[in-house]
Amino acid sequence: MTGPAWELTLKVGTAGQTHALAAVLGAQLVAGDLLVLTGELGAGKTTFTQGLGEGLGVRAGIISPTFVLVRIHPSRPDGPRPGGPDLVHVDAYRLGSASEIDDIDLENTMDGAVTVVEWGRGRVEHLSESRLEVDLVRTLGGGSPAANLTAGELTGRAPAAATATLDFDTDDDDEPRTIVLRGFGPRWVTPPDLPEAGPGPAPEPEPEPEPTERTS
Ligand SMILES: Nc1ncnc2c1ncn2[C@@H]1O[C@H](COP(=O)(O)OP(=O)(O)OP(=O)(O)O)[C@@H](O)[C@H]1O
Ligand SMILES: [Mg+2]
Repeated sequence: MTGPAWELTLKVGTAGQTHALAAVLGAQLVAGDLLVLTGELGAGKTTFTQGLGEGLGVRAGIISPTFVLVRIHPSRPDGPRPGGPDLVHVDAYRLGSASEIDDIDLENTMDGAVTVVEWGRGRVEHLSESRLEVDLVRTLGGGSPAANLTAGELTGRAPAAATATLDFDTDDDDEPRTIVLRGFGPRWVTPPDLPEAGPGPAPEPEPEPEPTERTS
């Protein structure tokens, strides 16, 4: 497997910025695109997908009656992209392997839709020769330890208790995230056109060190 053609690292400060950034990306996506979303529980994968849906102009809240792990959001005729691709939103958290992914027949919808798979790394790469990987990383104390997790590290996730400790009661509080995008295959030879930082106020800058002035 060859590496990405490029890698883009973006910083956001709020859930709204994650949503807005994804909306800018969503407006540029076309039928057949495959996005693989990676990030720990609560990192913002669904938030990002909701932003994609806004940019694509698809209907919200439609649940596929046949399989709850897959939600199909049809393009809205009155949205920004009438006749544009639908959004197929997959949560592969409970799916063990690539063969279980094959059971849900994403091939049937892929050509006419943008397919977004949460927890897709290591499970869906075989579906397309091209993919856009999106990693959402909590930026705690400036570190970014999870940016390059492998599929194996992800399947052996941290126990729920560890995540709960991190989450506490702060679920709805805005926190900084680092969003890393990587393009694979002919579709993603060039990166999408995205603002340097998410729209809105930029995350807090590093405080300038106090100038030390010597008087003697
Ligand atoms: N910068 C941010 N970007 C995205 N979400 C953020 C940010 N700051 C805070 N949040 C909050 O974090 C939560 C992210 O939840 P979300 O459901 O999007 O995560 P997820 O990665 O899909 O989780 P899961 O693995 O359970 O599917 C939301 O409550 C959101 O408001
Ligand atoms: Mg989710």
